[in-house]
Amino acid sequence: MATARAFMQNVLRPLEEMERDFGVFYRWLSETFADDPEAAMLFYRMSLEEKSHESLVKYLKRLVRQNPNLFGEIQLNLQEVIDLGAFARELVRKTKPPSLEKALDLALTLEASSAEVHYRNAVVYARPELAGLIRSLARGDVEHLTGLQEFAAKRGFKKLLARDLPRFPM
Ligand SMILES: [Fe+2]
Repeated sequence: MATARAFMQNVLRPLEEMERDFGVFYRWLSETFADDPEAAMLFYRMSLEEKSHESLVKYLKRLVRQNPNLFGEIQLNLQEVIDLGAFARELVRKTKPPSLEKALDLALTLEASSAEVHYRNAVVYARPELAGLIRSLARGDVEHLTGLQEFAAKRGFKKLLARDLPRFPM
């Protein structure tokens, strides 16, 4: 039981918190750009999607709670996930309302970083349940990246389109 708890603390909690932090970040952006309905809607939709990612992690937490012996031995350091969540939280707490271009730049950076971290982690996890979850989260990040880039293109923010998207063999 103790190891299942460690698994929750070390792996699932940071994942859940990062999704929640991203959700708060997009909610903040949707409120920041309330006067631009298209931008507000994009960010609002993304905040809802982050909520559904958070629910995915919560679902796995329940699975672990019900089958503590299945998930005992994995011990990973998800410091990057913790750092990314903290970065999103700091933006919301400290940053003055950004320009739309800057907001998209920040969102692209967050999603590209988290996609990369998820992808690296998914490869490491031996547990199919967990690898599957992390791949879903990574796929969500890539969908967000694509949506953000399409929107950036529509608004003519060419500088933002030059960056490479992480690619996933999924
Ligand atoms: Fe997400």
